[in-house]
Amino acid sequence: MKGFIFDLDGVIVDTARYHFLAWKKLAEELGVDFTVEDNERLKGVSRARSLEIILELGDIRATEAEKQVWMRQKNDDYLEYVSRMDQKEVLPGVLSTLRFLKENKGKIALGSASKNARLILEKTNILPLFDAVVDGNDVSKAKPDPEVFALAAQQIGVNAADCVVFEDSVAGIQAANAAGMASIGIGDAGILQEADMVYPDFIHIDAESLLKKIR
Ligand code: G6P
Ligand code: MG
Repeated sequence: MKGFIFDLDGVIVDTARYHFLAWKKLAEELGVDFTVEDNERLKGVSRARSLEIILELGDIRATEAEKQVWMRQKNDDYLEYVSRMDQKEVLPGVLSTLRFLKENKGKIALGSASKNARLILEKTNILPLFDAVVDGNDVSKAKPDPEVFALAAQQIGVNAADCVVFEDSVAGIQAANAAGMASIGIGDAGILQEADMVYPDFIHIDAESLLKKIR
């Protein structure tokens, strides 16, 4: 039995873009210069850590109360984008890959740092394809810690060595490697250098030959 663990943001849906727009808005209000390059460091990491990185960029010290207000504000803006999502936002090739893996008796899990993960799976109507969902509400240690993937593997009852993780973030690839799982990067091979394999997107993944390769 094989387990396939998918990150959500930037892998299944392009919400990395929405996270960026919402953080960018807050950064501007705080007078912090926040670029697309800076945003790479926010991918895969928790909401609280993301805010810390932005505050570090602007050399801003803040109270816990201020941080709570800003995180809420960012999340409200982010949820505005999420509220308009539907299945059309599932990235090309993802649905057919999920269905193929399921038909071939693979177990499918989500392993995301997001506390909004279930909502997004519901909005895009793909929740029924998942045998387990582990998200930011279930873990205490953020990627690159392997906790989220280890828990996902446990929930689908598959050994770590038989799991394959799909990830778009450096922190996520490191987490998959630390969990002892095969790591497949989705995105830029120059950025995701630590991944076992990198594909630009799911259109370029032939699930059938992938299954053979990892057998
Ligand atoms: C994902 C994204 C991060 C995001 C984190 C928390 O891992 O890649 O950019 O900060 O989830 O998401 P949340 O929806 O809980 O704010
Ligand atoms: Mg991601």
